[in-house]
Amino acid sequence: MRVTIFGTGYVGLVTGTCLADVGHDVVCVDIDAAKVDGLNAGVIPIYEPGLKPMVQANHAAGRLHFTTDAAAAIAHGEIVFIAVGTPPDEDGSADLQYVLAVARTVGQHLDKPTVVVNKSTVPVGTADKVRAAIAAELSARGADVAFDVASNPEFLKEGDAVNDCMRPDRIVIGASSASAVDKLKRLYAPFNRNHERIVVMDVRSAELTKYAANAMLATKISFMNEIANIAEQVGADVEMVRQGIGSDPRIGWHFIYPGAGYGGSCFPKDVQALAHSAQQHGYRAQLLNAVEAVNEQQKGHLFELIQRHYGGQLSGKTFAVWGLAFKPNTDDMRAASSRRLLAQLWEAGATVRAYDPEARDEAQRIFGERDDLVLCDSAHAALVGADALVVVTEWKQFRSPDFARIRHALADDVIFDGRNLYHPDEVEGADIAYYGIGRGRSI
Ligand code: UGA
Repeated sequence: MRVTIFGTGYVGLVTGTCLADVGHDVVCVDIDAAKVDGLNAGVIPIYEPGLKPMVQANHAAGRLHFTTDAAAAIAHGEIVFIAVGTPPDEDGSADLQYVLAVARTVGQHLDKPTVVVNKSTVPVGTADKVRAAIAAELSARGADVAFDVASNPEFLKEGDAVNDCMRPDRIVIGASSASAVDKLKRLYAPFNRNHERIVVMDVRSAELTKYAANAMLATKISFMNEIANIAEQVGADVEMVRQGIGSDPRIGWHFIYPGAGYGGSCFPKDVQALAHSAQQHGYRAQLLNAVEAVNEQQKGHLFELIQRHYGGQLSGKTFAVWGLAFKPNTDDMRAASSRRLLAQLWEAGATVRAYDPEARDEAQRIFGERDDLVLCDSAHAALVGADALVVVTEWKQFRSPDFARIRHALADDVIFDGRNLYHPDEVEGADIAYYGIGRGRSI
């Protein structure tokens, strides 16, 4: 099928590439000419495992095109996806300006029956706004073209996006016309083998489904972080508690890892946007507000542990920080817990020697040159001349370090483990003081 995708960010680029990979003819549009030129030359603007060779192969095979020419792209697609960003507004609501700008562009050029699909995470009711924006442009030029607006939210995870896209656990289609449902079912047929993954529903339910999924996952994390904080106070180990509850299938093992708080471009933004939408409709979303508040507090928790250990005297101290990305396998630092930690350490007069396997350039871009930050080329280089080690992102390569070597490098022999990667006994056995999240017995 002929598919057009607006936006070559995470969602648009991965979706377009996967659709091309199963044989669809895909045109990706972006207003950023430099990005489009780069993609046409095989340069991938994000780090995502497995994506680069797939983009290059499908581009070379002529099934995946990148352009800034919106009119030609709209002429190409029988299905047009909107996959542009919805950054948070000042008040936490989702900013729809980019989505609606695409809708207007579609209305200005639409010349044949088309299914327009919202893939961006958008508040309930956005499909109606998109429909109205397209209709207004069509009527302004006296055109009468039939179109549908459907919602087809994306559930991919950064770092595992290609896999999520190629092997989705569900495909949610929210549409009001049978022909739109039919078209999207045909589009996704290659991903829907062996058992049924497509869930068809009305547009508003599909829009809310996306927020509900992310809010539920964020809730699990904040819940566990709260249990961790309680464990710290009462002298229990949250890692034992986690193991004690995860085997109950109603709770499950996923997303119950306490840590330095959730980050990324989705959870913080989506929890706030859903709470804000609820408020606009006259409902005070107490649980969502609490999920967000617990996370905000949690992002400052590592710093509290550090401060407590040093009795508030951090000026002149140097901290090795392992991990800057908001999670492993990405270079994305949006809303990353590391950003809060670094800001707090700097504020207290400390210096940071940081290492992240992928986010070095991103960190350089965000922080620029500063005397109190050294971006290092290896985990060990970050330790050289440091007083203490702080682990912020759970990259695999940090899991089994040589503790004797760490002890040798650090002046103060202390590790603050923001992701509970290590067992306290193992670290303490190497004569290093250990602080984890919710590990009351070690405090
Ligand atoms: C999230 C969802 O998991 C995807 O299903 C969704 O499609 C995506 O948002 C989106 O809306 O686009 P992502 O933001 O890539 O995906 O990251 P996650 O893997 O969900 O991790 C989010 C944050 O939670 C990370 O900072 C991670 O460290 C933290 N986390 C995760 C925990 O602190 N504990 C856990 O147990 C799990």
